[in-house]
Amino acid sequence: MTFVAVLPRRRIRLKESRLNDEAGQDCGSPAQYVDDLAQKALQHRAVNHPYLHAMATGAFPSLHGALADFAQHYHGYSAHFPRYLTALISKLENPDHRKALLENLMEESGQYEEEELLELKECGVQPEWITGFAHPELFKRFRNAIGVGDSTADHDHIEVVCWREQFLAILNTGSAAEALGALGLGTETIVQTIYQPFVAAINQLGSLKPEDAVFFPLHTAVDDHHQATLKAIASDFAATAAGRADLTKGMRKALALRDSFWSWLHERAMAGHVIHDSNGSPQDPADVRTH
Ligand SMILES: [Fe+2]
Repeated sequence: MTFVAVLPRRRIRLKESRLNDEAGQDCGSPAQYVDDLAQKALQHRAVNHPYLHAMATGAFPSLHGALADFAQHYHGYSAHFPRYLTALISKLENPDHRKALLENLMEESGQYEEEELLELKECGVQPEWITGFAHPELFKRFRNAIGVGDSTADHDHIEVVCWREQFLAILNTGSAAEALGALGLGTETIVQTIYQPFVAAINQLGSLKPEDAVFFPLHTAVDDHHQATLKAIASDFAATAAGRADLTKGMRKALALRDSFWSWLHERAMAGHVIHDSNGSPQDPADVRTH
């Protein structure tokens, strides 16, 4: 084998060893490592993005337009959440890990334990608003209430299709630890925080009924224990340097993808060309699907 052919492999090994060294240098407990990673996720730009700040303060040419545009496009990522969770579950060899995440999957489909419903009621979420409604249905309810009509995945914008496919690729082709880093630390850990600006924007708009926007308070409450479940599983993978490296890698990839999607939405919202008609159809021809 020539040196040229060997070089890329050497580079890959070097990269891997750097990543493993970084993960291995941390001498804390696996749970501590996961807690530290979760903190890093919360400090990432995907969680502190100017788009989220603008959403929280209503600093757009049209707050309704920005929310409607978010509703239209985020759906193409969010509606596929059960697929993401299923992909992660299929990677896990430990039956206890799978069982814990299957409970999360049940909630995603609108089935809750009595205790959970009581807790949610205390947060102002009425059981009849959510019981029997899969979470993508709840997002669709919000979407319709803000004036965006139903559409199939065939009509998703190429930007959201890219996000969804790249995210699924991490879950399907990465190791179990990497998939867990992406969906657990890089997603569930931040959901509670990133949905708060949308709650603020919806309140500021003041035209939606609470049951129509229940998707958001539901996630700021429910995902609290989803987060805990995923962090507990991640701790089992954080017992080795390789596991730590893969958790970190998955988390960073997921956050980078979200950051990039927020930037795209931010640019559109600031351009203010995303006002929808009464059917939810974009009025600007530039919005028409490009793939
Ligand atoms: Fe959900």
